[in-house]
Amino acid sequence: MERQWWREAVVYQIYPRSFMDSDGDGIGDLNGITARLDYLQWLGVDVIWLCPVYRSPNDDNGYDISDHRAIGAEYGTMADFDRLLAEVHRRGMRLILDLVLNHTSDEHPWFIESRAARDSPKRDWYVWRDGRDGRAPNNWESIFLGPAWTYDAGSGQYFLHLFSARQPDLNWENPAVRAALFEIVRWWLDKGVDGFRLDAISHLKKRAGLPDLPNPAGLPQVPSYAAHMNVDGVLDFVDELARASFRHRDVLTVGEANGVSAAQAEAWVGRARGRLDMILHFEHWTLWSRDPHAALDVAALRTILSRWQRALHGRGGNALYLENHDLPRVVSRWGDPLRYRYESATALAAVYFLMEGTPFIYQGQELGMANTVFASLDEFDDVFARNRIARLRAEGVADAAILAELALTSRDNSRTPMPWDDGPHAGFSTARPWMKLNPEYRTVNVARQQAEARSVLAFYRRLIALRRTHAALIDGGYTALLRANRQVYAYLREGRGERYVIIANLSARPARYRHRGFLLRHAELLLANHAVAPHEDTMHCRLQPFEARIYRVPDAARPRATTAARTAAAPADEELC
Ligand code: GLC
Repeated sequence: MERQWWREAVVYQIYPRSFMDSDGDGIGDLNGITARLDYLQWLGVDVIWLCPVYRSPNDDNGYDISDHRAIGAEYGTMADFDRLLAEVHRRGMRLILDLVLNHTSDEHPWFIESRAARDSPKRDWYVWRDGRDGRAPNNWESIFLGPAWTYDAGSGQYFLHLFSARQPDLNWENPAVRAALFEIVRWWLDKGVDGFRLDAISHLKKRAGLPDLPNPAGLPQVPSYAAHMNVDGVLDFVDELARASFRHRDVLTVGEANGVSAAQAEAWVGRARGRLDMILHFEHWTLWSRDPHAALDVAALRTILSRWQRALHGRGGNALYLENHDLPRVVSRWGDPLRYRYESATALAAVYFLMEGTPFIYQGQELGMANTVFASLDEFDDVFARNRIARLRAEGVADAAILAELALTSRDNSRTPMPWDDGPHAGFSTARPWMKLNPEYRTVNVARQQAEARSVLAFYRRLIALRRTHAALIDGGYTALLRANRQVYAYLREGRGERYVIIANLSARPARYRHRGFLLRHAELLLANHAVAPHEDTMHCRLQPFEARIYRVPDAARPRATTAARTAAAPADEELC
């Protein structure tokens, strides 16, 4: 199998506004990131994914680009960027940029020209339509709520925006638009960046004719994902993008691909296809987003992640992640930050990190950061949260109820400044940060966790080192174990004559398990988040709340039963101890 550097890599995602401020304006910046590269190197990460730092009016914190070839003044200069890139490379690390190709800012010169007049040469660079009886051209709702169309009084037409009204969608059907975007991609590659995370890439293609969606409930607008998410033909665009800009370069491309299923993934990232290297799928989000109050459904998580493991084994890259800047913190979603912060953060880490694929860590996740505390609705910054507040208020919902909902669900939870130490402004800035610190920074911060042997940070560091030193954890096969267990997530990685068992109780209650496959008393415990007495695994098939163990299993621990006997054993009878 062809060796690709990113298969062995660990990616660290930086939200630049909140990572490190070097110039005392309360906003994170490029020089701040450069100043903290030693930390990332110490942690062991290989690739940095930098969320947008281009010039932008920041309606959506940089995902609304007004100049693709300029750095936003709040982040520094192009010289600062070049220095950051050089310093990343000097440390043997790589840097990928977050590129938004589906839309631009409404302040982008292309859009300004496009909206200027109906006969503007750039009119067709965006999606303009006449209204219908004084209303929007169709009934689509934008992902950030409200109509997906905004009326432009100057030119008397509506433009399409799948996200905020300040993020007009580019018209990918127009070859001139595609050519201009591919040129931008090549421009950054020529500068030496090591690849891209491609924002909202599954939305590029819109359903032909932009038809109304069925609306049996008579809604003012209908959630419109189906009309623009992974629509037939989108892969032709991705294909052309790859061919025109990165197919023959040794770079990493990661597509944000909402709506792409495991069954379809091979078409996106299959090695033979030469399109993208990995996609960020959303399937495991749904477990939480359907009901943010519900406890983690371990069986459902296992089903989803195992499906992706099977779908891409030996065929293409899996991006492994639990957090990002669009999600609340994972210990608050699926762990227990009050009683078991260390245990739940590390158990969740052990489960996703050692699957086949490339693990992503979102800044602060390596500390087990939890959701923050919001005292009032004014504290929400995110454009989606602001729209949601407006909508719920218009529906007469009380502020307290809105606060309760957003405290649990808001993207702002993961966007609070990085806590470096317990000093003023958490060591993030010398000034008041642009966004309130998570008050837990006094106890949850980098300096403290670096000094402690038993910290979430130390655990992540050991996980990274484990992947680096055990090749079967990179390319070995994956088999889910204990498939009937509702608390324990366990799996086997097997390859190159090596076998590893990862086993974690993902609940706040003690768990029992039985499995005939392996005799862990003969196995070597490589990493655990609870003290495991030497005799313990021979005596108990029991795990403490959020207990996680990682074993290397030698041949002596292989099952003695015949294959037939093993097959006959019902999953509920399985025994791992
Ligand atoms: C992606 C980004 C998100 C952004 C949206 C619009 O989903 O991850 O932060 O708001 O695209 O660009």
